[in-house]
Amino acid sequence: MPLTGIDAVVFGVEDLTAARRFLIDWGLRDDGGDDHNARYLTRDGTEVIAREKDDPCLPPPIQTGPTLREVVWGVEEPADLQRLAAALGIPLAVGADAPLRLVDPDGLSHAFRVTRRVPVLADPQDVNGPGVVRRVDTRATIYDRARPISVGHVVLFVDNLQASLDFFVHRLGFVVSDSYPGHAAFLRARTPGSHHDLFVLARPGNPGLNHVAFTVSNIHEVFGGGMAMMRHGWETDLGPGRHPISSAYFWYMRSPFGGSFEYYADDDYCTEAWEAREFERKPELFAEWAISGGIDGNTRRQVRAA
Ligand SMILES: [Fe+2]
Repeated sequence: MPLTGIDAVVFGVEDLTAARRFLIDWGLRDDGGDDHNARYLTRDGTEVIAREKDDPCLPPPIQTGPTLREVVWGVEEPADLQRLAAALGIPLAVGADAPLRLVDPDGLSHAFRVTRRVPVLADPQDVNGPGVVRRVDTRATIYDRARPISVGHVVLFVDNLQASLDFFVHRLGFVVSDSYPGHAAFLRARTPGSHHDLFVLARPGNPGLNHVAFTVSNIHEVFGGGMAMMRHGWETDLGPGRHPISSAYFWYMRSPFGGSFEYYADDDYCTEAWEAREFERKPELFAEWAISGGIDGNTRRQVRAA
């Protein structure tokens, strides 16, 4: 029962107007909605939905304030949904937007549906090196903003790491790509597949959202997207930078959604031959390098120069 990845993320927010403005600046496409329902799409059709946090349409929150209220996971075809429902021992809901729904050990809702995402290829990234010339008579792209392709992963604080691993790995079939034993695990939804669709991080007694991450084509789009957000007045949480685990370039921005939003590119891709490793938590394993406060989009210089 391979999952295709994240098909939608649903948030409850305190300021729907700010949420809309953030999503437009972030580079998503407005897909309508109404006064109570903001609905935006990435390039491949992944949905980002926001409602006011007290909206009774939303699944219950697992923390106070704005936060993630549901993750919708995709499967390839209806037969996959039937197999998943049978394996979980839950009947499929007829006519529902997502016919299968359950809560994780912290009470966060996870729903499943046949994916609505369409394949989108990253922009070509032709890199020249001595003796290896890939870009000829062509200038490299400079991005003045990002256009995220999809929602690549979510990161959750979990109350009990082992209970979460039992749920995601043993019940839902996620695979551990790498881990900090006793503290956190990077989980992928399918093999072959990208390094993680979900990262669960132990925070006993205080589960919640850490961040939601959006894939972009390459490091240059990470830079262009982050600087565009800075020009729009949003604040950097951390970035740009690079993760040694997963290899991705990142830029985290503070958002009105209760957790950061991340642009990232160039993450590892795992087949059956990938060897999961166990790591000890150290700052240099979170970021090989990172810029605190971001790069100002107008001056093109770091904001917090030492
Ligand atoms: Fe991330």
